[in-house]
Amino acid sequence: MSFLFGLVFVVTFIVSTKCIGNNRGYACGPLYITVSASPKSYVVLNWHFTCPDPPDTLFLLLTDSKTYEQIQDSVDVKNRRRGTYKTQYVLSREPDFPGNWSENGQNPDLDAQCLPLVVESLRNGNLVDSKCLEIQPTWMSKYGKLRLGSMMIPGTHNSGSWRGQPFLLKNYILCQDRNWWQQLVFGIRYFDVRVGVYDNDEVYLTHGVARCTPLDDELDHVANFLRKSPKEVVVLDFHAFNNPVNFTISNHKIVLDLVRKKLGNFIYPRHEMHYDEGPTLDEVWSTGGRVIISYNRRHIVNENHWLWYEVSRDWGNVIHVDKLQRYIYEKTSRKHYGNPMTVLMAELTPTKLYVFLHPTSSLKNLADDVNPNLGFWLRDHNRSDNVNIIATDFFLGNDMINLAQETNDRKLFRLS
Ligand SMILES: *[C@@H]1O[C@H](CO)[C@@H](O)[C@H](O)[C@H]1NC(C)=O
Ligand SMILES: *[C@@H]1O[C@H](CO)[C@@H](O)[C@H](O)[C@H]1NC(C)=O
Ligand SMILES: *[C@@H]1O[C@H](CO)[C@@H](O)[C@H](O)[C@H]1NC(C)=O
Repeated sequence: MSFLFGLVFVVTFIVSTKCIGNNRGYACGPLYITVSASPKSYVVLNWHFTCPDPPDTLFLLLTDSKTYEQIQDSVDVKNRRRGTYKTQYVLSREPDFPGNWSENGQNPDLDAQCLPLVVESLRNGNLVDSKCLEIQPTWMSKYGKLRLGSMMIPGTHNSGSWRGQPFLLKNYILCQDRNWWQQLVFGIRYFDVRVGVYDNDEVYLTHGVARCTPLDDELDHVANFLRKSPKEVVVLDFHAFNNPVNFTISNHKIVLDLVRKKLGNFIYPRHEMHYDEGPTLDEVWSTGGRVIISYNRRHIVNENHWLWYEVSRDWGNVIHVDKLQRYIYEKTSRKHYGNPMTVLMAELTPTKLYVFLHPTSSLKNLADDVNPNLGFWLRDHNRSDNVNIIATDFFLGNDMINLAQETNDRKLFRLS
């Protein structure tokens, strides 16, 4: 009976909160939905209970507005304070975004919005907590007082390698599975950009020798997004220039002309006078420009006042999860002052030998080894306080976008 009552309560609770997104606190420690990379986009439930009398059951609910909520899966979490559980429910490659946040939607709703997937925790049939999988198209608007170099910013590694022309070892080429529109709407704000110039001066995003997807489509996504979401700031970090091998001044010019043509007035030029940690978001907003183009070639930056110097990079270059954990602990144990931004690359990097020995494995499998740990590692001891940008593979597999906001809320609170 009390179980039934719990369910009724659950249903009304969801109906009344569906449209406005999650509230930020947790009733009993972190509870969130992620999405696996391999072999498919399975929905994963994640929990880390910290209250004295923790929940015993988790539900995954489908909450399509036209039907009643439907329990899709459940897991017994008695005596398991922390864990992840992979359900069999697959998130589509192009989910319907709520609030007119699809690529062609008009007048999108600026409040965060739930996808129709909810995780609930229950104790003895009573609801403890409930979180949906959210899009976060406007999360930066709360953080005007924070500086670019001191806030936490979620990003992707090899951001353009979400699809590619058929090539050898595709398993080890693709680091993402969502285009930049999806990355932006879900909340990613830092992009690790690698480019090549090909026949007819076409510019592609690349990963090493692999040609992935045209740059201009993705820049269109950035411009479209900045038009729709008035306070978001996006960093495009041009890190590598892969093709031709001898990337000439005229190759650079082709890339830079394309960036200027697509992003124009949205570009936020570098400022020679900086605080150590860069401008606040308030200061950025007051200028009108909201996309930062950093460029990993100093002689090119010196000659183009609108480019920023490269974002400094903490890259562990390791293939074992425990080594990555040690690297991340080391890098988050002290504060860095950078350029003013620093990016922590939080993914495994296979060696040639590893690829040779594991030809059927993939970056997806490696991401699934790392991503579920990131939230646990970085929430412990508030380690995320010392992370500026974090770039991950298959970003829906971790909840860095939520963690960034939790961390930035703390920073804002300390300022007050
Ligand atoms: C979506 O866009 C349409 C057309 O502009 C508009 O009528 C509708 O109110 C919008 N819906 C939301 C949720 O904003
Ligand atoms: C690139 O340039 C260097 C020096 O200018 C030259 O020695 C080398 O052969 C060139 N490589 C290719 C692939 O063109
Ligand atoms: C993390 O930060 C919060 C808020 O500032 C503080 O209350 C808490 O004690 C910190 N935890 C650790 C382990 O430092």
